[in-house]
Amino acid sequence: MAQLFRPSSNTIFKVSLAGVVLFASTTLGVAYMIDRGSWITSVQSAPEQPIAFSHKHHVKDDGIDCRYCHTSVETSHFAGLPATETCMSCHSQIWNNVEATQPIRDSWASGKSIAWTKVHNLPDYVYFNHSIHINKGMGCSACHGNVSEMPLVYKVNTLNMNWCVDCHRHPERLIRRRGADIFNTAYEYPANQAELGPQLVKEYHVQSLTDCVTCHR
Ligand code: HEC
Ligand code: HEC
Ligand code: HEC
Ligand code: HEC
Ligand code: HEC
Repeated sequence: MAQLFRPSSNTIFKVSLAGVVLFASTTLGVAYMIDRGSWITSVQSAPEQPIAFSHKHHVKDDGIDCRYCHTSVETSHFAGLPATETCMSCHSQIWNNVEATQPIRDSWASGKSIAWTKVHNLPDYVYFNHSIHINKGMGCSACHGNVSEMPLVYKVNTLNMNWCVDCHRHPERLIRRRGADIFNTAYEYPANQAELGPQLVKEYHVQSLTDCVTCHR
């Protein structure tokens, strides 16, 4: 059978194929880096909020517990954001005549809730649940960082799949005692975490959940 292509076209084909593959992999590689880069996943930058609400002032300086405002974090999938009424329990009395807290009074008068911008937002196809994490010894700061030092909340972790799965594979690395340690965002892991971790994993019956259906249902 006669050759349809001259031998040289074979080389041209190979070279251009290599070119396509190289092009595709660099584009994908760059796209991947952009996707995982901090400016797309917006780690480390706080979004604008309708009120400059400071966790540093309210949590660290004033000592208010997370659960006073995020009331359902231990019992539901959702941590929840405080209603205007919660702010008013203090701000009808204190700091009640300054510009900074005016949007609270506006919201209270109009009955329209304050439109906070979400800092953390998983895609709809991912299932997440706060209460199980809290009840199995995962502290707020393991995922959210030291919020009590943040004048405005920003994301410290990407929330991408590898990040979730890493901890699901090795929960002993980040587990802590239930109770106050969970809500202490300045918590530091003890020097003996290598012994304490596996011990708590056993005590709290923590499983390593890596099946796809755990998070995609
Ligand atoms: C006095 C009320 C109050 C207390 C106490 C409080 N928060 Fe908040 N929290 C808020 C408000 C209001 C927002 C929404 C504005 C924002 O994102 O900064 C918020 C937002 C957050 C967010 C970002 C939510 C998102 O949009 O993804 C995290 C994480 C968070 N809080 C964690 C904590 C932790 C951890 C504690 C305890 C150490 C705590 N908060 C204590 C009122 C409070
Ligand atoms: C348990 C009491 C308490 C609650 C509840 C509370 N605050 Fe405050 N807030 C304070 C105190 C005390 C200060 C002033 C002292 C300080 O700066 O620590 C303050 C100060 C502020 C300020 C002035 C700027 C600043 O950070 O110093 C803003 C704005 C503010 N609060 C917003 C809010 C909002 C919004 C809510 C509801 C999500 C809220 N607060 C709930 C006690 C409270
Ligand atoms: C295992 C990681 C993890 C832990 C531990 C954790 N969170 Fe979250 N948190 C998340 C993720 C992921 C989201 C985003 C959820 C979404 O978009 O559906 C989130 C969202 C939030 C929000 C926004 C409102 C909501 O419910 O979605 C608040 C407020 C919050 N977390 C507070 C807390 C507090 C307070 C604690 C500790 C008591 C805590 N979180 C512990 C991962 C965690
Ligand atoms: C710091 C460690 C840690 C991180 C980070 C983490 N998880 Fe978990 N997760 C756990 C532990 C521990 C459990 C409980 C395992 C068990 O049931 O014993 C759990 C359980 C779950 C469950 C099971 C809930 C149920 O009701 O069955 C889901 C869903 C889940 N995680 C989703 C996520 C997602 C999505 C992310 C990332 C956005 C994430 N987790 C990040 C530690 C973590
Ligand atoms: C512990 C939770 C968790 C488990 C287990 C998990 N995923 Fe995911 N997955 C996520 C989160 C969070 C995202 C969204 C963030 C991102 O894009 O990484 C995601 C995104 C995805 C996407 C969207 C594409 C992408 O990467 O952006 C696919 C496809 C996917 N997961 C498939 C799987 C398969 C297949 C498994 C089982 C081998 C699995 N996941 C197990 C949490 C999980």
